[in-house]
Amino acid sequence: MPMTENDATTATKPLIVAFCCNWCSYAGADLAGTSRLDYPADVKIIRVPCSCRVNPLFVLRAFQRGADGVIIAGCHPGDCHYTTGNYYARRRMSMLFGMLDYLGIERDRTRVEWISAAEGAKFAATMRDFCSHVAQLGPKNNLGELR
Ligand code: FES
Repeated sequence: MPMTENDATTATKPLIVAFCCNWCSYAGADLAGTSRLDYPADVKIIRVPCSCRVNPLFVLRAFQRGADGVIIAGCHPGDCHYTTGNYYARRRMSMLFGMLDYLGIERDRTRVEWISAAEGAKFAATMRDFCSHVAQLGPKNNLGELR
C-alpha cells in the first residue's frame, strides 16, 4: 500500500527542543497543559529566564545532540520581563539562522515565536505546526562535534 503524506508525517517523529522564556511562553505551555490542549510529546521544553538567555551555541548544541528542530519562544515585543531581551534574542537568532545553511541544517528547522502566558492555544497550535513542518523535512544531517 502506498504511503500518503499523512503517513510520512506520523511515521517520522521529530525531536523538537523548545526554549521557552519563564515569564510568557513557559506559562503558555503550562496553560496548554492545564487546559488539556494537545501538542506532540516529542517537544522537549527547556525553561530559560528570558529568550535572550538562549546563546546561539545552545541551538547548535541541541542539533548536535539529536534535535530535529529548535524553537525559541518568548514574550511578545514590548512585553519582555527584562524590557528588551526578546529584541536581542530575535537579532541573535536571525544571524544564526542565516548561517545554518553553511552547517547543512535547513533554516526551516528553526523558528522564533512570541507566545504570551495567556496563549495556551497558540502554544499548542505552534508546536503542532512546527512538529509537522519539521517532520516533512525528513531526517536531519548529523553535525560533527563542535570545537
Ligand atoms: Fe520573556 Fe524576555 S522575559 S522574552
